[in-house]
Order: sequence, then structure tokens, then C-alpha cells
Amino acid sequence: MLSRQMLGLLSTLWLIAATKTADFETSEAGNPFVDGWYADPDTQFYNGAYWVYPTSSLPYDDQTYLDAFSSKDLVHWTKHSSILTTADFTWAHRAVWAPAPIYRNGTYYLYFGANDIQTDSELGGIGVGVADKPEGPYTDPLGKPLIGAYHNGAQPIDQDVFIDDDGQAYIYYGGHSHANVAKLNDDMISLGTFDDGTMFKEITPENYVEGSQMVKRNGIYYLFWSEGGWTGPDYAVSYGMSSSPLGPFDRIAKILQQDEAVATGSGHNAVIQVPDTDIFFILYHRHPLGSTDGNDRHLAYDRLYFNDDGTIQTVKMLVHDNFEDGNTIGWQTYGGDWSAETNALRGSASSSSNALLNTNFANFTYEADVKLLTRGGSHRDSTAGLIFRVSGTSNDTTSFQGYYAGISTAGTLFLSRSNGSQSTTLGSTKADIKPAQRYRLKVMANGSSIRVAINSKTPAVIAVTDDAYANGMDGVRVFKAQAEFDNVNITRLTSN
Ligand SMILES: *[C@@H]1O[C@H](CO)[C@@H](O)[C@H](O)[C@H]1NC(C)=O
Ligand SMILES: *[C@@H]1O[C@H](CO)[C@@H](O)[C@H](O)[C@H]1NC(C)=O
Ligand SMILES: *[C@@H]1O[C@H](CO)[C@@H](O)[C@H](O)[C@H]1NC(C)=O
Ligand SMILES: *[C@@H]1O[C@H](CO)[C@@H](O)[C@H](O)[C@H]1NC(C)=O
Ligand SMILES: *[C@@H]1O[C@H](CO)[C@@H](O)[C@H](O)[C@H]1NC(C)=O
Ligand SMILES: *[C@@H]1O[C@H](CO)[C@@H](O)[C@H](O)[C@H]1NC(C)=O
Repeated sequence: MLSRQMLGLLSTLWLIAATKTADFETSEAGNPFVDGWYADPDTQFYNGAYWVYPTSSLPYDDQTYLDAFSSKDLVHWTKHSSILTTADFTWAHRAVWAPAPIYRNGTYYLYFGANDIQTDSELGGIGVGVADKPEGPYTDPLGKPLIGAYHNGAQPIDQDVFIDDDGQAYIYYGGHSHANVAKLNDDMISLGTFDDGTMFKEITPENYVEGSQMVKRNGIYYLFWSEGGWTGPDYAVSYGMSSSPLGPFDRIAKILQQDEAVATGSGHNAVIQVPDTDIFFILYHRHPLGSTDGNDRHLAYDRLYFNDDGTIQTVKMLVHDNFEDGNTIGWQTYGGDWSAETNALRGSASSSSNALLNTNFANFTYEADVKLLTRGGSHRDSTAGLIFRVSGTSNDTTSFQGYYAGISTAGTLFLSRSNGSQSTTLGSTKADIKPAQRYRLKVMANGSSIRVAINSKTPAVIAVTDDAYANGMDGVRVFKAQAEFDNVNITRLTSN
């Protein structure tokens, strides 16, 4: 039996764990945070969990269902498949888009666009599903769309639903570069009217394309929207502020856009607030660098910071991975065996093997923990470490082009350069490396200046000048070794 003190300690530890706040710089376990092609995410906090509802990013005719994801900590995600399908909505048959979740009086509502209508003679528009659980199944209370026609030029898609502090619900929506707001009655499945008798007010801000999102903070109404084309690299998020839920929403700034080192087409956002805190994240989709398929969209979140005057700072898409989610989503491995089941990235190879992120940094600081699990002795040349400015990788893992900063069982810290067939040592220094010990390796690259440092008992530094490779992917590498990597953090140098 457990002693009373032991039980006391356990319940204290449990409380600390349960109340641990998601005060992250970004998705610390890595973006994309879930696997698969998804877009247009929206979110709610239901019964102690964050829920994310995205579009299934597929050809329009295959967009007949919605999946959802839930998480208690924004790190470990559970997938809920087919929470809403067109089989339960007689009028909807394709292009099910941008689900908007909300809860009221015992019922979970999920609003969505369907059929991608181009004229009022077509059947389709914004529908609503109801369920008694966040994970559905969502069924059709109306038997028809809630908004089934164009008003003020707005295509009936891309809705967000918001309930103000006074209990009045609003639906913000619109595609084809027009945005409307309408009132929802308390039943949440019928539209109300404004004082002047109209039902739809146009609130289109400058540059608006689609993807309305309403957030209220400190009495200020924030309208977010997307600009640019969703299949291309320029898709982006801007916002406006108002003291009224009906606007006007003058465009203040673009706050999220592509980053040539991280991802393109970052757009169609929602906002996560950690309950009872002033911690916010922007939730969005983006394309991997170099991807040409418009549907190749993935879910990501990053921190959203407000200034003292209520305006919003430009979002930085950060590159972190602490593997706490136990998966390697976002990593492409070449050869060897790789797994993150131990909540660290463990790789082993009898010859050599790489795991790479689809990034393209030029000037950066790249830090990660590296632990060699292979002993010295007969494997005195086993190595593990960080590779950067990498191009030309294939399953023939000996032939990568780029730089390799690593530690060896022979007890050295080194920096080498590989041109695809031959490796050249650029620097090497004694570094008191012990097996099964964790070292923080740090690479600072600025143009042709490359520095490598390690926090061993006798700190070692290598500094070289080399201009063979200016930019490329980042990753980790094992050579005749088993090694573990953790707490990956890559940040662009900001001074240039
Ligand atoms: C809440 O739902 C109950 C049962 O469906 C209904 O009787 C009640 O009128 C609703 N309350 C409000 C405020 O809409
Ligand atoms: C590497 O091998 C995997 C399976 O072994 C294969 O799916 C993938 O296409 C290969 N990649 C390259 C770049 O050859
Ligand atoms: C790599 O470098 C070696 C030695 O300098 C050279 O012989 C070889 O041609 C180079 N290979 C490529 C692909 O550039
Ligand atoms: C990077 O190098 C440039 C000169 O090439 C220098 O002006 C700049 O300060 C350096 N940045 C950092 C962060 O060291
Ligand atoms: C990287 O830094 C070098 C030297 O400071 C500079 O010349 C180059 O333009 C930078 N590259 C990028 C992509 O910022
Ligand atoms: C990531 O690296 C940057 C730049 O070195 C640093 O400012 C930041 O605190 C680091 N974040 C974490 C979580 O280690």
C-alpha cells in the first residue's frame, strides 16, 4: 500500500501536471502538428480539450467528410474520423469547407460550406450540423442550407460563428472577396435581422478574399481574414479591429505570410486561447516548401502576441521539435531506422542515415541535443550530429550535399562538408565526448562564417569560413552509430 505521504506527493504531482499551462513559443512538438492533408482549421475548447476542425484537403468531389482532432495539452492529438459526412445532409454533396464549431445550451454546432455554388440557381451554401458531442456525428436540423444564396456579392462559404458576451450570436462569412455578417437567433439554426430590417451587412475590409474569423479580446473585436490565392505561396492572414461586432474593420496589417525558410501559403486562420490566460496561438494551414499541389496543405500553430495597444505582432513560424508527441511528422528519413517513440528522435545506421526537415535556412542558429548511444572501442569513428544547408539527398545516404557538425566516439567535435561523393573535414577539436550523455550542439551560420559549439565539460568551438553551400535543408545524421536527438530549435539570424 502507498503511504499517506506518498499519496499526498502523487496528488500534488498530478495537480501540477493537470494545471501545466501550454505557454509555448510555438508548436514545441513540431509543425505540422498532425499528419495528413488538412486546411482551413477552426477551433473550440470543449470539456477540458482543444478541438480542431479542418477541411479535408482533397479534390472538391472527394471533400464529402470532415475529420476533427482533440488534445488536452496542444501536444498529443487524437484524430476523430468522419464526424460529419454529406450522407447526413441531403443537399450537400461536395466541397465541404472550413467547419466552424460552437456550443450552445447542450448542443454542439458545426457550420460548413458545401457544393461551392457559383450562382443562386445552384443548391448549396452554408449549412449547419448539430450533435450532442464534439466528435459528432453531426446531423442536419434544417434539410437545406442556412445561407443558400449570394448576398452583397459574398459567396456563401468560409463562415465563423461567434457568441458575444450579451448572448447575441453572429455569423461572419464570405468568399469571392466579399465579407458579410449576419445575426443568428438563439436556436443557432436561423438568421435574425438587424435593427434596420436587413439580414446581411457587408463588412468587406481592404484586400479581403475569404476566411473570416472573429475573436474578442479586452472588449475589442478582431476580424481576421485571408488574402491571396489559397493554392499559391502568397496566401496570407490580415486583421482589423473594431469596438463593434459589426465593424468597420479597417485593415491594420498582414500578420502571417510565407517564409522562404519554413513554409509557403500560410493562411486561413483561427485563434486558440489557453483558457483563463492571455496566451494565444494562431492556427492555420500552409504548404511545404517546394510543393506544387495546391491541396498539399498541413495544419500548424504558432504564438500570437498582442501589443499593449491591442494591435498584433507579426507571426513568426518557428521550427522546434521536442518529440513529446512521440512522432516524426514533418521529418523525411533516408536510410537507417528512425523513431520518436522514446520522446526523442532515435536513429541508427550500420553505414549512414539522415533525417531532414523541409526547411531552407541560409543564416541561422540551429541547436539540438545529441546523445551518442554507440560506444568507442571498435567503433571509434561512429558519429552523430546536425546537418544543414543540405541539398541533393536521396536514399543513397552517403551522397548528401551540405555541412555536418557532429560528435564522434573518438572524442571530437567536428565540422565537415560533403559534396555528394566526398567529405572534407573543415575543423575538428578534442571534446571529451562520453557515450549516453546528452550534449547541446549549436551551429551559427552567417554567410560564409560557420561556428559550431558544444557544452561539454571542456567547451569546444570550431569557427571556419566556407562558402560552398549558402542555404538548404536542416536535419540530423548518424554514421555507423545509434544516437538520440532532442529539443531541435532552428531560428533565423535577425540582424540581417
Ligand atoms: C435550452 O434548451 C432547452 C431544452 O432543449 C430549452 O427548453 C431551453 O428553452 C433552451 N434555453 C435557451 C436559453 O435557449
Ligand atoms: C526512399 O525509399 C522509400 C522507401 O524505401 C521510397 O518511398 C522513397 O520514394 C525513396 N526516396 C527517394 C528520394 O528515392
Ligand atoms: C567532390 O570533391 C572531390 C574532391 O575535391 C572531387 O574529386 C569530386 O569531383 C567532387 N564531386 C562532386 C560531385 O562535385
Ligand atoms: C552576419 O555577418 C554580417 C557580415 O557579413 C555582419 O554584419 C552581421 O552582424 C552578422 N550577424 C550576426 C548575427 O552575427
Ligand atoms: C546571409 O548572410 C550573408 C552575410 O551576412 C548575406 O550576404 C546573405 O544575403 C544572407 N542571406 C540571406 C538569405 O539572408
Ligand atoms: C531557440 O533558439 C533561439 C535563438 O538561439 C532562442 O532565442 C530561443 O530561446 C530558443 N528556444 C528554445 C525553446 O530553446
